[in-house]
Amino acid sequence: MKSTALTAVQIEKATTSRIRQVDFENLDFGKVFTDHMFVCEFKNGSWQTPTIKPYQAISLFPSASVFHYGQAVFEGMKAYKDDNGKILMFRPEDNLDRINKSAKRMAIPEFPKEFFFDGLESLLKLDNEWIKPGIGNSLYIRPFVIATEAGVRASAAKEYMFFIICSPAQSYYGGEVRLKIEEEFSRAAPGGFGYAKAAGNYGGQFYPTQLAAEQGFQQIIWTDAKNHEYIEEAGTMNLFFRINDTLVTGPTSDTILDGITRKSLIELAKYHNIKVEERPVKVNEVVEAAKDGSLKEMFGAGTAAVINPVKGFGFRGERFELENVTNSYASLFKKELTNIQYNVTADPFGWRYVVE
Ligand code: COI
Repeated sequence: MKSTALTAVQIEKATTSRIRQVDFENLDFGKVFTDHMFVCEFKNGSWQTPTIKPYQAISLFPSASVFHYGQAVFEGMKAYKDDNGKILMFRPEDNLDRINKSAKRMAIPEFPKEFFFDGLESLLKLDNEWIKPGIGNSLYIRPFVIATEAGVRASAAKEYMFFIICSPAQSYYGGEVRLKIEEEFSRAAPGGFGYAKAAGNYGGQFYPTQLAAEQGFQQIIWTDAKNHEYIEEAGTMNLFFRINDTLVTGPTSDTILDGITRKSLIELAKYHNIKVEERPVKVNEVVEAAKDGSLKEMFGAGTAAVINPVKGFGFRGERFELENVTNSYASLFKKELTNIQYNVTADPFGWRYVVE
């Protein structure tokens, strides 16, 4: 459902565009940002008039709460363009719901729907030229909120800033992806905030991921913090396993991100009469399936990564490689999903959102 804007976003346009300096054929994920950004401040107990202004550095006091206590949440979304120049998004209401769910967990005030959609659509229209048509091209949209109140008292801030910045994107992972099943470090614990897209959930993964990278893995497969017995997620993606012809994925919980791509794939699988099981997935089950050949596919799903086949994984020093399969579920889902996202086919699920 579309929202009606209650407050007009105040717009200050950039006097020149940086778009000619960008090589759209060779984009490094998340490095280049469009000409404009959306900013809205929270102070005196309410969100103020939202603004769009030229993309620029911001000024904060060194004591700003976000630098000390990490009170920050974010989202990842994408805009696409069809061959007629129409701008499209994918289930954007779900991103707003999720950032507000993440915000609540971090004691950050929720952001109003009207401001979000008014700001986002105005921003996409202003930076329209940065969204390139063609499957595989997209504009990665990063909404985020930070605690800006100056002062190092360890309590929830009273001032925040909500931003939306946008970056033209192609693929997130270049080349084959191999993952390490992690048993030493943990990403999230029950009762914690693993389900939230909180900045600290990501920062805490970097060191173990660096160690895994030294062994040739692009990412980590996180396992439950208590016994490291069950598979959780891969940090930038939810994980799917095809065991024989059944698609298996872990259930969402307070330690796993409720991925929008994840839940879309579950619906797509059901639509195609593919047997899908959302249930706790044991590490041992995956290792055994890799050994006996019943693990036909493994892939990650996320906004940035889309659907990324996993070529192999490591566990307790042993390496497992997956054979290439023809007619893979990953390629079927990717095709169906991108056809909906880029307005190539009908959208029986009502996921597509047209920016008009
Ligand atoms: C996304 O898929 O948008 C994510 O949040 C992963 C990201 C940390 C690159």
